[in-house]
Amino acid sequence: MNIFLTGATGFLGGRLIRNLLEEGHTVYILARNLDKANKQKENLPFLLQEKVHILQGDIIKPDFGFTKDTLNLISGQVDIFYHLAALVKFDHELREQLMEMNFHGTKIALKVADKIGASKFIHVSTAYTVGTSNQGLEELYEISQGFNNPYEESKALAEHEVFQYQDKMEVSIFRPAIIVGDSKTGEADSAFTLYGFMRGLELFKRRLDRKLSIEKVHLVGSKHGTSNLVPVDYVADILTIAATKAKSRTIYNVTNPAPPTNREILEIIKYHLQFDTLGIYQKGTSFVLTPVEEQLNGMLNVFAPYLDRSISFNDANTQELLNGSPIAHLNMTDEIINIIVQAYFAPTMEKAHV
Ligand SMILES: NC(=O)c1ccc[n+]([C@@H]2O[C@H](COP(=O)([O-])OP(=O)(O)OC[C@H]3O[C@@H](n4cnc5c(N)ncnc54)[C@H](OP(=O)(O)O)[C@@H]3O)[C@@H](O)[C@H]2O)c1
Repeated sequence: MNIFLTGATGFLGGRLIRNLLEEGHTVYILARNLDKANKQKENLPFLLQEKVHILQGDIIKPDFGFTKDTLNLISGQVDIFYHLAALVKFDHELREQLMEMNFHGTKIALKVADKIGASKFIHVSTAYTVGTSNQGLEELYEISQGFNNPYEESKALAEHEVFQYQDKMEVSIFRPAIIVGDSKTGEADSAFTLYGFMRGLELFKRRLDRKLSIEKVHLVGSKHGTSNLVPVDYVADILTIAATKAKSRTIYNVTNPAPPTNREILEIIKYHLQFDTLGIYQKGTSFVLTPVEEQLNGMLNVFAPYLDRSISFNDANTQELLNGSPIAHLNMTDEIINIIVQAYFAPTMEKAHV
């Protein structure tokens, strides 16, 4: 099949493009940075490279900024349109950019997909369009519900826009939870979500080390709350199967059926970062933060909504999609989490010991 992909130069897109090429598909990718896209192409096995066509453009420009010639070139050629490009940041002050990229960018992507006659639109959203609710469903959420940040809201608005197109083409929505590294190697090309959190802790620990501080420091959160991590290879494999098996007007939660608790994850991070003095204060109990702890919690406050809750996600549609495929329903063991966290910290810890 001929596939159009936005976000191919990103963390998830980099995995997905390889999968799609290995399945024998031809891939047209939208890239705002040609150098980056060309480098990515060169890193693919030689025989796959000829099936990659790079088109320069930007999801926030009308028609992606494509010329008429480019639009003509791909019109009638695209079977499936995957839309992954997004701004994955949770900061409240980025509201305008998040709305522009994630909501308006999706509107533009849908218009382009329609214009070039794509028959199927596969939209990558996030499990966190669930907002402040603790029940993750495989259906559209009301926009009037509460959201923790403009990222969630922008992605929820985009989902509604996708379903507006259900009479023009097949539309389906895939909602991964927190995407982390490869389940076998731990490899990850991401600076966001868990990686932003680990980077924040790493910087803070370095600051404490410089001051030779051995003071105990606490994050505020729920020890028993869970963090829904999903390995990037699992998400990319599901999106690959989606090319042939996704049902129209259907939403798929790509989530972890048995997510680890925050305490379990923090223990693994503490071990690999050698940050023994780090603890958690249970939210809602009585404690007084020291000035150092105020700084730590302030620095990581964008992650706070994800540290103090347990959301239960229904992923029945995803299980049905996986049925009869070689991909098993996710079983993310402690060993896998260990590989993922270790892969992040190992290079920095090696440097620290030189
Ligand atoms: N990472 C997660 O934990 C997570 C969890 C759930 C859902 N998701 C969703 O999964 C998708 C992929 O996320 P990711 O982690 O792979 O993100 P990422 O690594 O930040 O990649 C984002 C991609 O979007 C492209 N892009 C950004 N702005 C663009 C623009 N104006 N025009 C064209 N392309 C643009 C980027 O291009 P450049 O290379 O030029 O920057 C990059 O290819 C997103 O829709 C995200 O919401 C991610």
